[in-house]
Amino acid sequence: MRRLWILVIVLVLAGGVHAQEITPGLDGIGDPYFPNLGNGGYDVQHYAIDLSWDDTTNQIAGTVTLEANPTENLTAFNLDFRGFEIDSITLDGAEVDWERDGGELTITPPESLTKDTAFEITVTYSGVPGEGVFGAYDVFAGGWTRHTKGVYVASEPNGASMWFPANDHPLDKATFTFEITVPSNYVVAANGLLQTITENDDETLTYLWQTNDPMATYLATVNIGDFVVQTGEGPNGLPIRNYFPSRIAESATQAFAPTADMIAFYNEIFGPYPFEAYGVVVADTDLPFALETQTISLFGNRIAVGRSSAETVIAHELAHQWFGNSVSLSRWKDIWLNEGFATYASLLWLEHTRGTEAFQNEVEGYYLFIANSNLATQRFAAPANPQQRDLFNAGVYVRGAMALHALRLEVGDAAFFDILRAYYDCFKYSNATTEGFIQVAQEVSSKDLAAFFEGWLYAEKMPELEFES
Ligand code: TRP
Ligand code: ZN
Repeated sequence: MRRLWILVIVLVLAGGVHAQEITPGLDGIGDPYFPNLGNGGYDVQHYAIDLSWDDTTNQIAGTVTLEANPTENLTAFNLDFRGFEIDSITLDGAEVDWERDGGELTITPPESLTKDTAFEITVTYSGVPGEGVFGAYDVFAGGWTRHTKGVYVASEPNGASMWFPANDHPLDKATFTFEITVPSNYVVAANGLLQTITENDDETLTYLWQTNDPMATYLATVNIGDFVVQTGEGPNGLPIRNYFPSRIAESATQAFAPTADMIAFYNEIFGPYPFEAYGVVVADTDLPFALETQTISLFGNRIAVGRSSAETVIAHELAHQWFGNSVSLSRWKDIWLNEGFATYASLLWLEHTRGTEAFQNEVEGYYLFIANSNLATQRFAAPANPQQRDLFNAGVYVRGAMALHALRLEVGDAAFFDILRAYYDCFKYSNATTEGFIQVAQEVSSKDLAAFFEGWLYAEKMPELEFES
């Protein structure tokens, strides 16, 4: 008995001491699929990315400043950052101690940081993005990428730290400014609105771009090329600015002509477009993908040469501005909330423009693609249960879209579109989870959908859908 009391007293004391202890921030934000992505203990408000680019070496050099708030008292904290030579790091203007281990950069202030007292950290660095780090740290997306005509930046899911120091997880969204200096024969397109172009003495130009709304780090993009700018207007005066390589500007203009109508359609069915501008940038290189970089989706040059599927991809990336960018993930395993939604949204655009029959045929094709492969190879994951190494597989995109279509058949059109709008409204400018979506669907439809979602989102084998012949 006495022993037990001593044990209790020791435990209480230990707990008391522990509660007062000031500790370093964690080296991950708590995403089970990416334990080292993001960091604990602070919340970034703003990134100021100020870099110059050398077109002969692809070297970038400059400073990145993070304005952040500690969410607890901190003896130290981490940033995610890979490669480069760091010249100096300052905290609120004074040099500070730091060390690096793989993709983790640890900053140790002379005195601990106080919860809710904002701080500013500036990293001055230079180097060629990716040099010496590829393959070493499991990065799936290369971040800053040189091609023969310039640069594009595509970082989903974990490539942002390949070009700037970051709290690299969509749970910590922040606003951005980009001051990018390039030789004066190049044009720079980044996220948000172009504020100024400054001519420097040394035949370079500095482009200042700024976002109004917070965004996830993987959606930050800088694109450098010989772009021509095409401007237009979407619904409610929304500015549209497209950056096309001059060589293919005419065909690109054709390909992206439906954009304003698409925005109007998604405004109707999802809710108002979330950001200050939209548009696209076409990199003059043959990318095998497109990316929904916030306010300015990124495409490769093949999109401009009359691919029949172009409109589908264009609608898909636009739809991500609602689902993926305004409504962000809380954990990467829920990637179907981005890709399944964007894929189904592109089918809805097809239904809207080409009618019920074309839509039905397309849905049936998508369904059979998964159903047949399910039987043969079990190759595609359940939408809400992808492998960590295979987040962007067809189970996420195509079966994810089929899960939404099945939901529509289950609850009826009216309730289904109410669910989409309610889910968007509930999580816009914020972060969602699959559980959050299921809850909204059940509340709006007044149905118990647990078994339905178990089958469509989690079961290994896709449930059956009936098609009229
Ligand atoms: N999100 C992209 C899409 O909408 C796909 C994607 C995933 C991607 N990771 C990427 C694109 C990295 C470019 C780079 O389909
Ligand atoms: Zn997508």
